[in-house]
Amino acid sequence: MAEEESKPKGPDFTKGIALAALAEHGMLSGHAGEDEVLLVRRGDDVFAVSPHCTHYHGPLADGLVVGTTLRCPWHHACFDLGSGEALHAPAFDPLDCWKVEKQDDMIFVREKLPKPKSKSRAAEKIGKILIAGGGAAGFAAAELLRRLGHQGEIVMISDDASPPVDRPNLSKDYLAGSAPEEWVPLRPESYYSENGIDLRLGTRIAALDPRDRQVVLEDGSTLGYDRLLLATGAEPVRLPVPGAAPSELFTLRSLADCRVIIGRAGTAARVLVIGASFIGLEVAAALRTRGLDVHVVAPEARPMEKVLGPELGDVVRALHEDKGVHFHLESTVRNFENGRVTLSNGTAFGADFAVMGTGVRPRIALAQAANLALDRGVAVNSHLETSAPGIYAAGDIARWPDRHSGEATRVEHWVVATRQGQTAARNMLGHREEFTSVPFFWSQHYDISINYVGHAESWDEICVEGDLRAKDGLVRFRRGGRTLAVASLFRDLESLQAEAVMEQVAAPHPA
Ligand SMILES: Cc1cc2nc3c(=O)[nH]c(=O)nc-3n(C[C@H](O)[C@H](O)[C@H](O)COP(=O)(O)OP(=O)(O)OC[C@H]3O[C@@H](n4cnc5c(N)ncnc54)[C@H](O)[C@@H]3O)c2cc1C
Ligand code: FES
Repeated sequence: MAEEESKPKGPDFTKGIALAALAEHGMLSGHAGEDEVLLVRRGDDVFAVSPHCTHYHGPLADGLVVGTTLRCPWHHACFDLGSGEALHAPAFDPLDCWKVEKQDDMIFVREKLPKPKSKSRAAEKIGKILIAGGGAAGFAAAELLRRLGHQGEIVMISDDASPPVDRPNLSKDYLAGSAPEEWVPLRPESYYSENGIDLRLGTRIAALDPRDRQVVLEDGSTLGYDRLLLATGAEPVRLPVPGAAPSELFTLRSLADCRVIIGRAGTAARVLVIGASFIGLEVAAALRTRGLDVHVVAPEARPMEKVLGPELGDVVRALHEDKGVHFHLESTVRNFENGRVTLSNGTAFGADFAVMGTGVRPRIALAQAANLALDRGVAVNSHLETSAPGIYAAGDIARWPDRHSGEATRVEHWVVATRQGQTAARNMLGHREEFTSVPFFWSQHYDISINYVGHAESWDEICVEGDLRAKDGLVRFRRGGRTLAVASLFRDLESLQAEAVMEQVAAPHPA
């Protein structure tokens, strides 16, 4: 029986299918021998690719075809149908591809094609590229530089002790105990030396000298560069908590932070989560999954209302309450001492430790001290160039002219950071690519994922479609009659369609 179940399902494409069995713009799942294959038809062209996204294995048959690209329904990775190449993060690895043979009105899939090779040479010869930061943007830049065939030196400096990690996992499956630690690194450690990426961990850049094109490390040594990518990310905000021992108050940014929280959770029964932010509530979900009694304290009336609006805020709250999470909203922590929490409204309860999810602050100190132009973050143009020649910025620190909203925007999203790292990589090699990706993020609570595409800091209208409480719906955030953003629950295709529509909007650049 088990063997039966593991056999690939659908038609066997090695035996051929009639072209007519595949709708003009349709997809069809089947197999070629033991391999699962997804056929995608665009008019007369038929492509055969692996049906699983190389990010988290999302089902591509439920995705969207845009031109000759295939978009993943889960986190919007974008693949080239012809070569399988991962064009836009969060996937980095290509899809397997097969040769499609046409005979009369039949099509056959028999031969797996070789993986796309790194380009043989970069568009322009650039010497040493220095990447400040070993996170989402830094990793994505280094990975793509090598894929694009950059032959020069790449040095990546990170004050983190770990090689680049899948940070979103740290507040989700890994923290909940349902993903092993081997899933957390973005690449095995050997990847960096094998690809000539000089990754220097536990190393802090103390200063930046744009005039002499060098950075100064904490130990006083200097490192020169031809191009520099600033991708220093953000750090958690730590609010003072009267009475709390520092050893019982945690924040979550790095793998090391996560390991400490997991260790502490192993000997605790009750946790206080300060802040009903995305991170705060993902931590609440993960620790609830571990069986802890979870109390969330936050000053707002509804969790995440500022970003998701009241309707989704209520749904998120109900989702957590159904799992037994206690909310203490419109209140703050007055005191946390000797395992006892007292709130501003007088409520008291026990907690063994606390995790703070009270937002992050971009790490712009280097840019600031070097007099780079700032705008509530590091100001960059549409090519992600800072005000200093040869210096680019990407990720949580970068405020860029967002095409869709027409506003200078800075967000803290994994997909945006990785895609900006990729655009910066191309531009450091001399391409002139504008960063035009529509912002996207997801947040996972238990088995529910909220997908959010676009960016709306404010709106004058919220349109709800479907039934959010039944976890099947979406919310459009509109201003002046325009949809600025769409948040959805289990409406992945509509989320992808909304993204494709937003991509068409070429709003004028801010002056
Ligand atoms: C627990 C957690 C869960 C998240 N979940 C999601 C999610 O589900 N969806 C989503 O869209 N986003 C999520 N995010 C946000 C996302 O991870 C960030 O937006 C993304 O990591 C930003 O990438 P970055 O490269 O700008 O910064 P980072 O990934 O933070 O990397 C910054 C790097 O710079 C290094 N650095 C900083 N200053 C220096 C210095 N002076 N010298 C040397 N090195 C330095 C740091 O050590 C780090 O390696 C999550 C974040 C966290 C913390
Ligand atoms: S699973 Fe495909 S983008 Fe994440």
